[in-house]
Amino acid sequence: MDKHSYIAVFDSGVGGVSVLRELRALLPRERFYYFGDSANAPYGRKTTEEVRALTLAAGKKLLEDHDCKALVVACNTATAAAITDLRERYPDRIIVGIEPALKLACDRHPGGTIGIMATDVTLREQKLAALMERVKRDCTVLRVQAPGVVELVEAGKADTGEAVELMERLLGPYTGKLSALVLGCTHYPFAAKAISRVLGEEVRLLDGGDGTARETRRRLAAADLLVGHDGKETAIIHFAADMEVVLPAQTDMGGNTAFHPKPGNDGEGIIAHHLHQLTGFSLKEAVPGEGSPTVQAVQPQP
Ligand code: DGL
Repeated sequence: MDKHSYIAVFDSGVGGVSVLRELRALLPRERFYYFGDSANAPYGRKTTEEVRALTLAAGKKLLEDHDCKALVVACNTATAAAITDLRERYPDRIIVGIEPALKLACDRHPGGTIGIMATDVTLREQKLAALMERVKRDCTVLRVQAPGVVELVEAGKADTGEAVELMERLLGPYTGKLSALVLGCTHYPFAAKAISRVLGEEVRLLDGGDGTARETRRRLAAADLLVGHDGKETAIIHFAADMEVVLPAQTDMGGNTAFHPKPGNDGEGIIAHHLHQLTGFSLKEAVPGEGSPTVQAVQPQP
């Protein structure tokens, strides 16, 4: 395996960008290939079999077609439905699956009441039940359903009044009752402000992004696949429905960036919003590309 190949990061859509952020902070010299299957999002309301099939297809694309050196499943839903199958299919490859940060929450809040907010698939899968059994000790763990949140984040509205209204409906009944809320879906960190507006700043929000990044580094180091100091620091970000983005992954994000949004949808606005949240950079200009509109150059915000 070539240590200079990409680390694949996969999510149903934009949510995994919250994990990519942690990965890049921890592994700044690595190259990442981000694939968001936004054509098929949301995964969370599909059957487990559907999510499994989509995840295996993404695994094939990233591990076989692109020969990435590791696959990070930056989607709790895909992990819950398909991580076992992926590992069976690719026993010799590094495959890291994100998990809700429930252990961290229970360790930090002994005897507390912990909410776990996740998609329907994640909440109903055996993997979560087993995790709860393993880590909850004397904590009370409450499953919190969150219909509509993924759609809102995919639409780039995580930071709006609409998001606060939705959170009031979903989380209002838990106000004053939780010691911590586990964000068990990678889309939810984007809505953290709206969540805290409703629950209060004192309720800790915990997600699995940091733990996933650490586990990825540990696995790559153990396999001697970390790139060292000669890395090219590039990321390719590819959203199935919307566009392809190529950008340098240095902390200052200088250099050329290309977007390839498919014609006739609003993907460009959405990705610009999320890239801005991720990097602090925003789109500069749109120019015609080959076959589809192309937006080039991400420049720093003043
Ligand atoms: N981001 C995914 C997760 O972590 C789910 C989003 C979806 O429903 O597609 O669970």
